[in-house]
Amino acid sequence: MLLEGKVAIVTGAGGGIGREIAIAMALEGAKVVINDIGASLTGEGGLSATPGEQTKAIIEQRGGTAVTNTDSVAEWASAQRIIQSALDAFGRVDILVNNAGILRDQIFHKMTPEEWLAVINVHLNGSFFTSRAAAEHFRKQNSGAFVHMTSTSGLIGNFGQANYSAAKLGITALSKSIALDMQRFGVRSNCIAPFAWSRMTSSIPSETPEQKARVAKLQAMGPEKNAPLAVFLASDAAKDVNGQIFAARNNEIFLMGQSRPIKGIHRGEGWTPELVGEHAIPALKAAFLPLDRSPDVFSWDPV
Ligand SMILES: NC(=O)c1ccc[n+]([C@@H]2O[C@H](COP(=O)([O-])OP(=O)(O)OC[C@H]3O[C@@H](n4cnc5c(N)ncnc54)[C@H](O)[C@@H]3O)[C@@H](O)[C@H]2O)c1
Repeated sequence: MLLEGKVAIVTGAGGGIGREIAIAMALEGAKVVINDIGASLTGEGGLSATPGEQTKAIIEQRGGTAVTNTDSVAEWASAQRIIQSALDAFGRVDILVNNAGILRDQIFHKMTPEEWLAVINVHLNGSFFTSRAAAEHFRKQNSGAFVHMTSTSGLIGNFGQANYSAAKLGITALSKSIALDMQRFGVRSNCIAPFAWSRMTSSIPSETPEQKARVAKLQAMGPEKNAPLAVFLASDAAKDVNGQIFAARNNEIFLMGQSRPIKGIHRGEGWTPELVGEHAIPALKAAFLPLDRSPDVFSWDPV
């Protein structure tokens, strides 16, 4: 089994993609910490231990080993308790999957500081807090694997998600930075941009015929489709895979690009603002990227 002897923490594992990753890791032999605060989609309202308990029951029914943890990823002290819960239950930690998430979609000119901060706190700050807490143990044991959930909303773009997109693109930079800083300790860090019908995607509007068609395609994509890639990336079999960004969509797996210069222009005597307009922009314009959203780029039916 790919994860025999490993201890994995999966944040936000009380449902959706995180639950499927936790189950798949347990079936590959990992002992799993199921972290989830049982939040609503927006992160507001009452919290519940039930979603995590349900994941635990599924894992145990299938012969796996798991414990639950209900601390929030979104604060430093509670994120440290999540990592500690793995040490308390299983004596070590080998894998951290940063999957917990909320949404507060809002068109940009109406987005409130609260909407911005709530999403940044769970996704970006939360991924830092849990990763930083795990990093101490990974460094001491000279091994460890991070898998972070990013999104094509950040990698490509989407309407009404400035908070979420910024957090998700920030997570790719966090992952790359961890990969660079911790490679010397045998630690790896990779990202997955998942696609799945889950509570999170159930808020996608489905009023117009185009929206209805898009939602119908999403509904066919089970959250379990993302799990095999996450399990592999977390395993020692992925020892040569570090600092990469993947996407998983139904039965497709993609390697996503990372930013590089695509075209350059040089002027020996330097630039004035006027010359930028007369020379640089016309020269570069052919390589401008359109204002694409994720569905413009992933425009074909998943197979
Ligand atoms: N579903 C998709 O198509 C899709 C697309 C791109 C990215 N993602 C990402 O995948 C991840 C999982 O999404 P999902 O679709 O399964 O959503 P989901 O809403 O089903 O699951 C998210 C889980 O995170 C938990 N959570 C929220 N705040 C938390 C906190 N502070 N601490 C601990 N747990 C918390 C929730 O209770 C919930 O169970 C998220 O990071 C999401 O941004 C999903």
